[in-house]
Amino acid sequence: MYKATLIPGDGIGPEVIKAATTVIEAAGVKISWDEKPIGQSAMAKHNNPLPEDTISSIKTNRIALKGPSTTEVGKGFRSANVSLRQRLNLYANIRPIKTIEGANTKYKDIDLIIFRENTEDLYMGVEHMVGKDAAESIKIITRDASERIASMAFNYALKENRKKVTCGHKANIMKLSDGLFLSSVKNIASKYPDIEYEEVIMESLFMKMVMNPEKFDVIVLPNLYGDLLAEMCAGLVGGLGLVPGVNIGVEAAVFEPTHGTAPDIAGQGIANPTAAILCGVMLLEHIGEKEAADRIYNSVRHVIKEGKYVTRDLGGSYSTMDMTKAVIDNL
Ligand code: NAI
Repeated sequence: MYKATLIPGDGIGPEVIKAATTVIEAAGVKISWDEKPIGQSAMAKHNNPLPEDTISSIKTNRIALKGPSTTEVGKGFRSANVSLRQRLNLYANIRPIKTIEGANTKYKDIDLIIFRENTEDLYMGVEHMVGKDAAESIKIITRDASERIASMAFNYALKENRKKVTCGHKANIMKLSDGLFLSSVKNIASKYPDIEYEEVIMESLFMKMVMNPEKFDVIVLPNLYGDLLAEMCAGLVGGLGLVPGVNIGVEAAVFEPTHGTAPDIAGQGIANPTAAILCGVMLLEHIGEKEAADRIYNSVRHVIKEGKYVTRDLGGSYSTMDMTKAVIDNL
């Protein structure tokens, strides 16, 4: 029996996370889940969006499956997600972006993976007003954090027999901060002579990815650009409901979908459970349950390709739990 922390989150979080745990159980892997709140649900209960108890549960179990949590725009409490990543030093955000046949996309062969630095950049939340009418936000980039994410990306490329690593940046404008990120990644790249390495300015990277996403393989990015590009990539393969991810560091790995709480459809039972179920697949791979992970992954692909028991965003009319049941029936 494995132990893991379960954080259902807000909005559609509890609906899709329930789908993921149900599928894992049906695949025969026994996990004892320690359920903890975060975000709005934690605010309501503990007046704290990130209770210490939630942090210590993840520290103990070292793995967590997490749904999205609400962060108010321009006011309210600080993002519990950003705080969680900083508190547990989850320094890498990894998102595999792969075409699933049957999903709403014109691209057939996308198979790329994004390694986003997850702890610094403009997301450190170091900002203040300068007088009444100006605001300043400080972008922090360090050599250590940049080399660390680059090493993870290159190690992955080597292990998984990937051919190319692309580094995105704006070092043409932010010569010091992005310049340091770029030179750090380049330094790591020099240790992997067999892996092709390229550097692309961000706006050009967005354009090239929209035109020929199939040409990209492993992508390494600072925090902000990684956040933006990963969401666009979700659009390339058919939407946010399809893309899983993990925030990982030395101490722990927190698996969570790319999508947010989807307040427009929350509580209706119609959210696409795929991203959450694929987070479960990544979690199972992480703990060494490869066979169960493969079975779930193949079943999800089958259900989406068949296109019968799928949610609205995939062109169907079925509920989250109907689609989950179809995945279980095909295991
Ligand atoms: P969102 O991802 O929640 O929704 C964007 C659009 O995608 C909506 O139309 C929604 O219905 C659709 N969508 C998302 N997931 C779906 C799914 N599984 N199935 C079907 N349709 C789906 O992004 P939005 O509206 O910008 O953010 C809402 C809230 O979520 C905000 O409070 C934001 O801070 C939070 N958020 C939390 C994240 C996290 O906890 N990791 C990540 C992103 C946003």
